[in-house]
Amino acid sequence: MFAHRLADDAELRPLEPWQSAEFAEHVARVRDDIVEYIPWGHLIVDEATARAYLDSYAEKQARDAGRIYGIWMDGVLQGGTLFRTFDAAMGVCELGVWLAAEARGRGLITTAARHMIDWTFGTRGMHRVEWHCDRRNTSSSAVARRLGMTREGVLRESYLLGGTRRDVEIWAVLADEWRSA
Ligand SMILES: CC(C)(COP(=O)(O)OP(=O)(O)OC[C@H]1O[C@@H](n2cnc3c(N)ncnc32)[C@H](O)[C@@H]1OP(=O)(O)O)[C@@H](O)C(=O)NCCC(=O)NCCS
Repeated sequence: MFAHRLADDAELRPLEPWQSAEFAEHVARVRDDIVEYIPWGHLIVDEATARAYLDSYAEKQARDAGRIYGIWMDGVLQGGTLFRTFDAAMGVCELGVWLAAEARGRGLITTAARHMIDWTFGTRGMHRVEWHCDRRNTSSSAVARRLGMTREGVLRESYLLGGTRRDVEIWAVLADEWRSA
């Protein structure tokens, strides 16, 4: 567990089931900004579905199999980061992110992702952090590139979202690469 200040007005810290009402309000507010690329943009429609989602991450965290963090700006939840998967035995995890449109363009996600990756390699001794994104999602691939990740390939039409099949780019950074950068 950790918390980090990303800017004078922005903080990264754990997002937990007790914050379900706040998360439901946040998703309702940013749904149009994220729904094209984030599957739970369709699924979280009220406090109960928000709680089910955060419960699933609390359960993952208890198994050391995933984690979720929020980004608060001036006390308002505006986005977040997550380890969608976290396989400690294999040393491999997948990092995901989202942010309200009004908060973009300031580098908050890149900074938050750096803290996530520092913790993964530095504190947890993991070996590889992956980033999966729709080939059309150039804002997301730009973050992966900014983080120094390598684009390893494309899983063609491998992900079904909102009724359309998506080509998924796989990006990754290895522990040695992160340390030497
Ligand atoms: C992906 C997403 C989180 C990226 O948000 P973002 O604000 O562009 O990302 P960052 O916080 O890293 O900011 C980068 C932007 O801030 C600018 N910036 C300003 N200061 C910066 C700094 N100190 N460091 C890095 N970038 C900085 C960059 O130039 C860049 O701007 P540009 O897009 O005009 O080139 C956002 O587009 C999003 O939520 N999309 C919908 C959900 C989604 O696709 N999630 C990913 C699924 S794979």
